[in-house]
Amino acid sequence: MKHVMNTYSRLPVTLVRGSGCRVWDEKGGSYLDMVAGIAVCNLGHAHPRVAEALKEQADKMFHCSNLYRIPLQDDVARMISENSFESRVFFCNSGAEANEGAIKLVRRYCHEHSRKGPGIITFTGSFHGRTLATLSATGQEKVKKGFAPLPEGFKTVEFGDMDALRGAVDDSIGAIMIEPVQGEGGVRIPPKGYLKNIREFCDEHGLLLVLDEVQTGMGRTGELFGYLHEGIQPDIMTLAKGLGNGFPVGAVAARPDVAEVFGPGSHASTFGGNPLAMAAASATLTIMIEQDIPGMCRETGAYLTQGLKEMMSLHSGIREIRSRGLMIGIQCDTDISSIPRDALEKGILLNVVQGSVLRLVPPLIITRRECDEAVEKIDKLLKEKGV
Ligand SMILES: Cc1ncc(COP(=O)(O)O)c(C=O)c1O
Repeated sequence: MKHVMNTYSRLPVTLVRGSGCRVWDEKGGSYLDMVAGIAVCNLGHAHPRVAEALKEQADKMFHCSNLYRIPLQDDVARMISENSFESRVFFCNSGAEANEGAIKLVRRYCHEHSRKGPGIITFTGSFHGRTLATLSATGQEKVKKGFAPLPEGFKTVEFGDMDALRGAVDDSIGAIMIEPVQGEGGVRIPPKGYLKNIREFCDEHGLLLVLDEVQTGMGRTGELFGYLHEGIQPDIMTLAKGLGNGFPVGAVAARPDVAEVFGPGSHASTFGGNPLAMAAASATLTIMIEQDIPGMCRETGAYLTQGLKEMMSLHSGIREIRSRGLMIGIQCDTDISSIPRDALEKGILLNVVQGSVLRLVPPLIITRRECDEAVEKIDKLLKEKGV
């Protein structure tokens, strides 16, 4: 791929087709997909109803500018709001863009209400995207390297440490932004009660709580949105990845009184919420809710985690298995970055984050039999690697 910028370390395989939890390469080789396009194809590849919705819309109209009414946007926004918290939604095309929108919303809200801020606290190990503002918000130095000067207004605090958070808030801060479970950071689950404490802290200090649900949203953790495990509500929530089951679409949902600081001209996107994206998101959300995919994910996630924990006793190099729903991290003691490449020979797609965490984020419709197959293959791969 010499004409493409070299920004990814790509594995030597060309995937051309997918169905459910399985994908095929150009030579017909098949792979069990434990990556799902990085937590994207939550309903499985080429879901027939999502494909049908896209085809039907494609025959009518691909794109329509936001200069005109797009009623499908209202349907999708209503579905998001009715299944999360009372909100108004802005549509964009990716997770980073959704977080950019959230950051702009925080800033304008703070300015318009002449309150504290508009600085935002984020956390060590977090990941919020690769645009300048979102990488500045990200709590990992490696993604920022070489991109100075970075936008100001972000402060990074130790993830999981409530005292550090209390100590970091001053009048420059207007919001706290956090992933309910850190994904790129290595499937890091916050301590019990942490998000609730943060919510209370925000209420006490008049701060906005922004939840980055780009990876945890759309059923991934066993609830439609990750925060639903915690008995709290955000003020702003961002979505992308699973929202279109593979069709690029992102969203920012905000409490109505927060959303109203955006008026015509304050934020926009040419493609954001176009009819094709909305057809995919509408079909995806409908199926997700009708078929209780989050509930299915809870059950299968528990089954897969149990299988992995049983396997763990045979591997002294596995330090810990962290999981919520079908967002699973196998923390190893050593560098296992070569495993995704070795896994290709075994017919399985695997992903490693932070060098030592095998992250499993398969389609949420994965069957028990496929979970058994994954455990068996991972067991073999780790044995061969001496983990
Ligand atoms: C929590 C979180 N936020 C934001 C992003 C950025 O999303 P995108 O790559 O769609 O811009 C990601 C991507 O991995 C993510 O996991």
